[in-house]
Amino acid sequence: VSPAPAVPPVPAPRTAAPGERVARTRRYLMCPPTHFDVVYSINPWMDPGKPVDGALARLQWDGLVHAFRSLGHRVELIEPLPGYPDMVFAANGATVIGGKVLSARFRHVERAAEGPAYLEWFRARGYETHQAAHVNEGEGDYLLAGRYLLAGTGFRTDIRSHREAEKLFGLPVVGLRLVDPRFYHLDTALAVLDDDLIMYYPEAFSRESRGVLRVLYPDAVIATEEDAEAFGLNAVSDGRHVFLPSAATHLTDELRERGFEPICVELSELLKSGGSAKCCTLELRGGPR
Ligand code: ARG
Repeated sequence: VSPAPAVPPVPAPRTAAPGERVARTRRYLMCPPTHFDVVYSINPWMDPGKPVDGALARLQWDGLVHAFRSLGHRVELIEPLPGYPDMVFAANGATVIGGKVLSARFRHVERAAEGPAYLEWFRARGYETHQAAHVNEGEGDYLLAGRYLLAGTGFRTDIRSHREAEKLFGLPVVGLRLVDPRFYHLDTALAVLDDDLIMYYPEAFSRESRGVLRVLYPDAVIATEEDAEAFGLNAVSDGRHVFLPSAATHLTDELRERGFEPICVELSELLKSGGSAKCCTLELRGGPR
């Protein structure tokens, strides 16, 4: 008679050491850069005269997908549309919070068809979708930070969209005005690190918005102009790992000091269109799996 099997020990809940940053597993929607190119210019980074290496863009984008997946995040894909070279920037495709989807409505005609394409992806999967009444470029200008929805305006997203988002998601919206055309989307000037910590480049914001950020986030990580120009603020954080372009060396050091683990990714080809890691990544919060 064999002895009764020992009860397997219950694994102790993984408690974080004080000050330790804890990653939360995320779901991201991304779009392969199959048709990526720079053939028009709608921001100061885009020069259609400068060649783009499509194969290299693909390798770099694959590297980002691999970095997400190897740290346990789920990446879903949307089919890229021919003729829409910026569709790789999935962050602009919508805003998704609690399973509700606010569609994107692009400022420029060159990207107009991307809004319906992304919305259809969500509709087909059973998300609660809402057709936006006002111009907004998805998570390019809407960043969720804990209980606040930080919302950019000035270049792309119409300020009237902020009210619309506030009503739909039932979250207080903090409107922030961008003033430097190089940092035309909120996600090029500010990144959410965790529910109550952000990093940003103050000079990209109006004086008033800078004041708001100072009050809300007295401990924020402050980026230098070099960090911002290297698109270091176009970063994705899971609460512990921060995926950001390798060129943002000052930010990388700062993040380490604050207990984060920078994961450096190389996306130089996408930068020719004014985008990097965060631009390629739309977070899926809630909704059907
Ligand atoms: N070329 C694109 C544009 O100007 C880049 C979009 C970058 N996306 C972002 N989330 N910042 O619209």
